[in-house]
Amino acid sequence: MERYIRLDESALGAGVRAAELDQLTPQVETAHRLLHSGGGAGAEFRGWMDLPVRDQRGELDRLQAVAARWREQATALVVIGIGGSYLGARAAIEMLLPLYRNELPARVRGGPKIYFLGNHMNPAVTAEILQLIEGEDVVVNVISKSGTTTEPALAFRLIRETLARRYPPAELRRRIVATTDARRGALKQLADDEGYEQFVIPDDVGGRYSVLTPVGLLPMAVAGIDVERVLAGAAAGRDFWSQPQMATNDAYRYAAWRNILARKGKEVELLANFDPHLHTFGEWWKQLFGESEGKDGKALYPASVDFTTDLHSLGQYIQEGRRILIETVLHVLEGEPPVQIPSEPRDLDGLEYLAGQSLAHVNAMAYQATVAAHQEGGVPVLQVHLARRSPEVFGQLVYFFETACAISGYLLGVNPFDQPGVEAYKKNMFRLLGKP
Ligand code: PA5
Repeated sequence: MERYIRLDESALGAGVRAAELDQLTPQVETAHRLLHSGGGAGAEFRGWMDLPVRDQRGELDRLQAVAARWREQATALVVIGIGGSYLGARAAIEMLLPLYRNELPARVRGGPKIYFLGNHMNPAVTAEILQLIEGEDVVVNVISKSGTTTEPALAFRLIRETLARRYPPAELRRRIVATTDARRGALKQLADDEGYEQFVIPDDVGGRYSVLTPVGLLPMAVAGIDVERVLAGAAAGRDFWSQPQMATNDAYRYAAWRNILARKGKEVELLANFDPHLHTFGEWWKQLFGESEGKDGKALYPASVDFTTDLHSLGQYIQEGRRILIETVLHVLEGEPPVQIPSEPRDLDGLEYLAGQSLAHVNAMAYQATVAAHQEGGVPVLQVHLARRSPEVFGQLVYFFETACAISGYLLGVNPFDQPGVEAYKKNMFRLLGKP
């Protein structure tokens, strides 16, 4: 299969030299060995590496059957989950399908509207969603490995209470699918007790690396995304980015550059896009790198920006604020619909020189101009070119960043597969709430 993702290092600027990459080669080789031999920290959570080629046939067939049934029958799917149990699915759906899909007429949309619940505890938004699904034919995918995460567990209580007023117990049971641990946890037990259909989050795959399991694949399939194509793209990525040679391994080079730049005092990495379809991909990426590397007082802080929107808010800081930033720009090469700029002879806005040009061209020029300006302003820029927005590209992009993150974590000397720090706020919250 084609390589859909290409790293472009041409705008890194004068602050770094190719020789620095060469100097890091032995460390990257060590990180590669640790990752592939299982000798590194967190090795028991390397299951994500094989997901694209693992024999998931039985699970995939069952998943496709649920998706087909729900696409036929339901008008609203509520996906309940948080963090790694929701961001990947949402990133895929928003990247690959119309951003305002829920507002399209049913025959254009294809499949149910999709709402995400349990990713916060805001009562107003929760109530809005519960109100929006009134009168809809509702199905639910509750996703939680532990089953005890407060946000999705509360949302699942609320949705069951709401739907129990509408559907008799046997009918409600058929409308709920749980994606959870194979053997343990509160959701596993509830699903067994209630007789919900279940999909498994494998033991050897951590939450933020789980998008290519049913965690991500079931909501994608219900939305109408061809998940076989997603997995095929990721499988090709696995071939490309399992190679030890840094010269040809873009994921390793990306990991190496961000480590070199962090060692030179850079503190923040901005993941930028010029396409609102990629906004939630940025959220997924932030969790991946934030939870994997933010340990022992180390690592670049992962942030994301949406351009050109944020050029009108954060652009000033990026150009002239503290020189602690690096930027990685996701750039989609082709596939934009032909939106042509109309002529307006009065030319009050002074934009008549663009009449007849495509909006995609103007956006592309904004992209080029921004990369050059930021580089000149002292922000090293890495560009990740994506062939287009397609299921294969999504799968490959996920695999690219997952590989880069694992290698980057080992270069940094942290365990890229645990997240001990996320317990701190929970302990305080449970104390405040009087948890027995
Ligand atoms: O990466 C992680 O481990 C976390 O983001 C979890 O996915 C998140 O906290 C949700 O956990 P759970 O699936 O147990 O509800």
